[in-house]
Amino acid sequence: MSFEFYNGKDNEIVDELGTFFFAGMKTVQMTTANTLMFLAQNPDLKERLLNEIMPVMTEVKDNILENLTYSKVQDFDFLIRCFNESLRIEPPVPVSSNQCFSEDVTINGFTFRAGDAFWVCMGAI
Ligand code: HEM
Repeated sequence: MSFEFYNGKDNEIVDELGTFFFAGMKTVQMTTANTLMFLAQNPDLKERLLNEIMPVMTEVKDNILENLTYSKVQDFDFLIRCFNESLRIEPPVPVSSNQCFSEDVTINGFTFRAGDAFWVCMGAI
């Protein structure tokens, strides 16, 4: 990794790291906590999820870090759908920051003019 881009400005590297820590930590923590709460409120879905993950978890339990591979987790279809639904119901980042298009764009009959600032409100979707 090259740090030349930052031209020796340590404070800018620290600033980027701060963004990564905050953007990466609270989002994942909140999504996980919300997903667990929704599962606790829906025991039938919790049961369905346990049926999906427990056979694999039992198989890897002696060395989870090594045996629970990325591809195994990707096969947890219902778990992924639970997380996605949790993100839909309660997005940890409910609104985007400033966005704009560099040219006029019409989406579903709604026109954004080049340069107009807009926000996407995930919480309202
Ligand atoms: C459930 C997990 C996450 C969600 C829902 C999420 C959501 C978002 C959203 C909506 C934005 C765009 C905000 C904007 O409009 O400016 C964003 C930006 C960002 N996210 Fe995440 N994020 C998640 C996890 C992570 C993780 C794990 C990392 C890093 C390890 C991360 C790093 C970042 C960074 C660096 C940006 C800013 C990108 C930029 O400068 O444009 N996020 N995230």
